[in-house]
Amino acid sequence: MALSLKLNGKTHEVDAEPGTPLLWVIRDELKLTGTKFGCGVAACGACTVHLDGEPVRSCQTFVEDVEGAEITTIEGLNSNVAEAVQAAWVELDVVQCGYCQSGQVMSAVGLLTDNPKPTVEEIDDYMNGNACRCATYQRIRAAIQRASDMMEA
Ligand code: FES
Ligand code: FES
Repeated sequence: MALSLKLNGKTHEVDAEPGTPLLWVIRDELKLTGTKFGCGVAACGACTVHLDGEPVRSCQTFVEDVEGAEITTIEGLNSNVAEAVQAAWVELDVVQCGYCQSGQVMSAVGLLTDNPKPTVEEIDDYMNGNACRCATYQRIRAAIQRASDMMEA
């Protein structure tokens, strides 16, 4: 099935069977490997991308359902919020093994875009679906607060 996807500001013609997870197309067809496969059942957040600016789990998003939407992966993040998040992540040295981190960043950007000054509870609630086997949760929370402060400055 031929599909036209708008991803990271460009249109890509792809060939995929109905029911193919968007994650497969992103990684295997488009060779954008920043988005990770973790669980495959929408339980870990490693595969998070933005669909029209909202974080979604690409492992449980069918490719035929996203034609016409603006898809953004970690490679295509480009906003003031994304810049603040990436700077805070570096400043606070958030990353350990790194596997979950593109999903964490995609969710953090989604959160701060919707809510530039989240409370700790709001951060924990929003980020709840993004698992980290290295348990970097404290640094993630601190980096989101730091990014929020940077955006305000
Ligand atoms: S791989 Fe999609 S949520 Fe885990
Ligand atoms: S940094 Fe290793 S899984 Fe999160």
